Amino acid sequence: MFIHVLGSGAGGGFPQWNCNCENCKGVREGTIKATRRTQSSIAVSADGVDWILFNASPDIKKQLDDFPAIQPCRAVRDTAISAIVITDAQIDHVTGLLTLREHIAPWEIYTTEAVKQDLTTGFPVFNILGHFRGINHHEIATDQSVFTIPSAEGLEFTAVPLLSEAPPYSPHRGNTVPGDNIGMHIKDTRTGKSLFYAPGLGVAEDHVLDYMRDSDCILVDGTVWTDDEMSNEGISDKRASEMGHLDQSSDGGIMSILNAMEKPRKILIHINNTNPILNEASPQRAILNKAGIELAYDGLDIEL
Ligand code: MLT
Ligand code: MN
Ligand code: ZN
Repeated sequence: MFIHVLGSGAGGGFPQWNCNCENCKGVREGTIKATRRTQSSIAVSADGVDWILFNASPDIKKQLDDFPAIQPCRAVRDTAISAIVITDAQIDHVTGLLTLREHIAPWEIYTTEAVKQDLTTGFPVFNILGHFRGINHHEIATDQSVFTIPSAEGLEFTAVPLLSEAPPYSPHRGNTVPGDNIGMHIKDTRTGKSLFYAPGLGVAEDHVLDYMRDSDCILVDGTVWTDDEMSNEGISDKRASEMGHLDQSSDGGIMSILNAMEKPRKILIHINNTNPILNEASPQRAILNKAGIELAYDGLDIEL
């Protein structure tokens, strides 16, 4: 399978438009060594021709412009995106659907029932698309059963229920239900290789660890280095854990979880602009490098 990282930043991207934290200011002014990042999204393909979009970020126009394979130019209106999978109803993962309204047919969209509820009530993007070509909604079960997508022959998808948080406008905010957040395990039945993708991971439950351990490559929540990072910068009074993100550096944090795993290639995605690892000269980045943990960047291609 082919994986293309369209965006590797968290909500707001890097730099965020109104942010003057050390990182945002530094990358804007060129005083730190760091790379700009758009908001998190990946595309996955079985054959390199048809692509499944995972999440649709507000930055999708730039992301598609920067990825020629997704525009094969076979007709006057065309795209290589054959289906869309949404892992949660957060703004940074769904707002790009509005940009995709000019599609010439209903979009094939896969979400859990919980995410569908959010996207037809608190943030009714699906209702809005109904005024254009509409959507064909396919429900993703939360019982870890394997499903397939017609345009991705040879790939097997499993939704992995995650404990994270529902968006502020969700009826489930503060009282999450299974399906508010899912990770995705994707297995290529031809190569036998698998990917685990989870841009928002609040708690690493045992079933999640099992999927991670078994995967050849993990693209996992890289939002913050420390739980209080955003409040430290005076940016937010919220801890990352309240927003459904597990930090990297604490005991039991993402790094210690990844360090205990032998098999997978380990890559962080959905990296918040406050995270010191974005500064390539930071001691925190050196710790990750030493641990063999990579940072996803926009445009990263992986073949499994
Ligand atoms: C999150 O990942 O917690 C959200 O995307 C935050 C946001 O709204 O930017
Ligand atoms: Mn997010
Ligand atoms: Zn910032």
